[in-house]
Amino acid sequence: VTDDDLARDKRSHPVSISVEISSPTDHAELAAWVREIAELTKPDRVEWCDGSEVEWTRLTNLLVEQGTFKRLAKRINSFYAASDPSDVARVEDRTFICSERREDAGPTNNWIDPGEMRETFAELFDGCMRGRTMYVVPFCMGPLGGNISQLGVEITDSPYVVVSMRIMTRMGTEALRLIEERGAARQAGGSEGRASEGLSKRDHEYGAARQAGGSEGRASDGLSKRDHEHGAARKARGERHSDGQGDFVKAVHSVGAPLEPGQADVPWPCNQTKYISHFPETREIWSYGSGYGGNALLGKKCYALRIASVMARDEGWLAEHMLILKLTPPKGEARYVAAAFPSACGKTNLAMLRPTIPGWKVETIGDDIAWMRFGPDGRLYAINPEAGFFGVAPGTGETTNANAVATLWGNSIFTNVALTDDGDVWWEGLTDEPPAHLTDWKGRSWTPESGEPAAHPNARFTTPAAQCPTIAPEWQDPAGVPISAILFGGRRATAVPLVTESLSWQHGIFLGANVASEKTAAAEGRVGELRRDPFAMLPFCGYNMGDYFGHWIEIGQSADPAKLPRIYYVNWFRKDASGRFVWPGFGENSRVLKWIVERLNGEADAVASPIGNLPARLDTDGLDLSEQDLELLLSVDPEVWREEAALIPGHFETFGDHMPKELWDEYHALVKRLA
Ligand code: PEP
Ligand code: NA
Ligand code: MN
Repeated sequence: VTDDDLARDKRSHPVSISVEISSPTDHAELAAWVREIAELTKPDRVEWCDGSEVEWTRLTNLLVEQGTFKRLAKRINSFYAASDPSDVARVEDRTFICSERREDAGPTNNWIDPGEMRETFAELFDGCMRGRTMYVVPFCMGPLGGNISQLGVEITDSPYVVVSMRIMTRMGTEALRLIEERGAARQAGGSEGRASEGLSKRDHEYGAARQAGGSEGRASDGLSKRDHEHGAARKARGERHSDGQGDFVKAVHSVGAPLEPGQADVPWPCNQTKYISHFPETREIWSYGSGYGGNALLGKKCYALRIASVMARDEGWLAEHMLILKLTPPKGEARYVAAAFPSACGKTNLAMLRPTIPGWKVETIGDDIAWMRFGPDGRLYAINPEAGFFGVAPGTGETTNANAVATLWGNSIFTNVALTDDGDVWWEGLTDEPPAHLTDWKGRSWTPESGEPAAHPNARFTTPAAQCPTIAPEWQDPAGVPISAILFGGRRATAVPLVTESLSWQHGIFLGANVASEKTAAAEGRVGELRRDPFAMLPFCGYNMGDYFGHWIEIGQSADPAKLPRIYYVNWFRKDASGRFVWPGFGENSRVLKWIVERLNGEADAVASPIGNLPARLDTDGLDLSEQDLELLLSVDPEVWREEAALIPGHFETFGDHMPKELWDEYHALVKRLA
């Protein structure tokens, strides 16, 4: 980007632009919505983002001038930002699902009545962008034009959000063109646009199932109730379509820090009052008061998980908190694996794993989110809806995730890490030895004697996925990749073996519904305090989680069982009586992936246990594992598991009559096998 480019760009972005003049779109509903939000929030300027490199350069320069960014001398086109110390993570207690019925948010989400929420926002957002620029950011989640991909527009008053969205999504003019094309197709063909295709097929299947079973006969398993809900969703969707609101998801974000004339800005504007709110029926997101990733980059958790999970329920697909990796054996075909672990259980590390076993290759498709749909061949295909990684920096280093470190060479944003004296970044775990002197994330002088971490524990890197050395060539294939196995897992010091193979799709869902992590290590042989995080979706499911389990069961029932992925449960975190991690983890996890692939190929044996199939043998060649260690990793103690099973009813009862009967059946079958 030359100075001439920037000068030309500046002429096309005069200081004050009215909404009408600046609107570059013929999508009438989009233009009207932008005008409506501008009238409410009253920014000084409105700017439509094109996603260009010139725009990135102009905005990163602006962020440097404003003091939000420091340019890093040691990394090309890369920046350091320190947040307000109060605005460092997702705020789950300020995250709301504003469904029309409280029951549809379910027992695990915070709920506010949508009417009440809109009233609150009408006040909070009134004038909240005064003194600021309102950016309009069209974006696509997933490869541009792909039929699993989805469109959105984020309106934000944060240039930090705009440049972050440019890394994390396909943002700008091309996404806008796709929104316009959808609008045009809708007007040409009535409400039978592309978006309704998946829905019609699903409706057809439901209709067929209903006819086969007789509507009374099926009422007991909840299908009729769900049919009814699908009908309502279809109606709402149809209404949105006819007025053009269904062409894209609307996402409004403000840091909630208007500026009075002459008032100086701060490096990280935000507000103590925070709302991260989702309106599932109208597919809207409204976020106020935070500039932090998961709260402010609305394409990510808010859209790609919470809103998309609702779209997926209504349309017969899956929006999941899963990495996607490609595994190629020394001889034989590549397999694609999706895996869901709760936050801070090593998803990014597994996605970029360097196998320790000879000849095996792991490549990366995604590290956080997977959208999956059945393909024409009846297999489940997954895309990574994101274009970048927003990863936790601390703990990311040469031994834990060398590929992530290599990804970060340039074009990246680092938030709440520490700064080195020569203009680079550092965090705990990047190197074994910390530098002798740093500036910590709060801007204070830091030495190894300071006694506090130099980086915030939730410090983040924002970096383009394309720069990952192990990114798979097909990571942007709009058709996605066919998934052969789904892994669930959590952090468990006790009870849970290294790997368990589910007995069926339904049993696999039972394993997913019981995903849990321990907050603290429990004594060996005892069940510790568990935080249940079903499917690792607890903070991210946009509707009633009992219905979500039911949706997974229906997905299985509508498929050819032979073509469904097999489901596994893994646990890298088993400890022995002395509190030592028994399994080395990281690159050695490739040995578990190897067993899984060999199972898929019918090449490896398993032994049955009450909780599922365990490896008969595992490739532990060259590993320093005793017989005792291996026994601990690959066995099930029925006594411990009777205690474990006794915790399940309390968890399931949370979901009341939304809990599918099929999962209670699985529970009773487990108890029987353990007797
Ligand atoms: C986030 O906090 O924005 C985020 C990506 O969450 P997590 O890493 O916990 O999934
Ligand atoms: Na977080
Ligand atoms: Mn995540």
